[in-house]
Amino acid sequence: MGSLNAPRNHTSRFSSLEPTALDGPFALEAAFRKDTHEAKVNLGIGAYRDDEGRPWPLSAVKEAKKRLAAGDWSHEYLPLHGDDSLLQASRTVLFGSKLVSEIDVGVASVQTVSGTGANSLIARFAGKHLNPAQVLFPDPTWDNHFRIWRENSPHIVQRWYPYYDLEGRVFDFDGIMATLRQDAVAGDVILLHACAHNPTDPSQAQWAEIASLCEEKQLFVIFDVAYQGLHPATWTEMRGRSSISFLALALSLPPVNPSPKILGFTVSEPASSTSWFLKGQI
Ligand SMILES: Cc1ncc(COP(=O)(O)O)c(C=O)c1O
Repeated sequence: MGSLNAPRNHTSRFSSLEPTALDGPFALEAAFRKDTHEAKVNLGIGAYRDDEGRPWPLSAVKEAKKRLAAGDWSHEYLPLHGDDSLLQASRTVLFGSKLVSEIDVGVASVQTVSGTGANSLIARFAGKHLNPAQVLFPDPTWDNHFRIWRENSPHIVQRWYPYYDLEGRVFDFDGIMATLRQDAVAGDVILLHACAHNPTDPSQAQWAEIASLCEEKQLFVIFDVAYQGLHPATWTEMRGRSSISFLALALSLPPVNPSPKILGFTVSEPASSTSWFLKGQI
């Protein structure tokens, strides 16, 4: 009989797998931790921190965690689409209560494991059911977007539209409009960050123009809403368009009929969304 401590001489089935390189912000974070300079400052990953550089959870998040810990949970299985009260709350955070009351019937929501899970699900859904020729990402964007789309819908051509003008250090409004006009074709998917897309968001007026161009070009708009609440949400100008094709972390469809048709994948993490409601911040 073999001993658990006996040396094993078989090769792991996984030994041929390439290790994944750390992506940009995480590589920077690792370099920051290693750096011994006493005056180092972390301007990388944009999470709240205290003066000592420790994570600074929002008080609303702490309160929600307390309530979760004190709650009498049944730990019953959830339906496959997720927790209904969480989804309802997420829809309201995402679309606002007025819009939700107007369009609620047309919104379908699914709970996913974090924003990464939501992005994966949407990339897969889009590849299977929307079948766009191209997906257009902002440059720059979250490093994982193109990988997630490559894994889930490798047949969709990936393109970039300019987002940040490095020289002028401003949002590249003219660049995005010109590229969409030239490169996007009807049925393409455009991925937009709803808010707090560093270092700046479009103004309300610019969102309105982007929305009009997406309507004109009949694009499927996918909003990655990763940071709502951290920055004023100027994207509401776009969110309110009933005729736009749009999927929120989210999707919607081209105006096949005059009624708003929004399939919303509303996604959020239980503790934080609950706490926003507890605090009435949204
Ligand atoms: C724009 C954007 N979308 C999605 C995610 C992933 O979210 P999660 O950490 O909840 O998986 C991130 C995380 O950094 C992000 O920046």
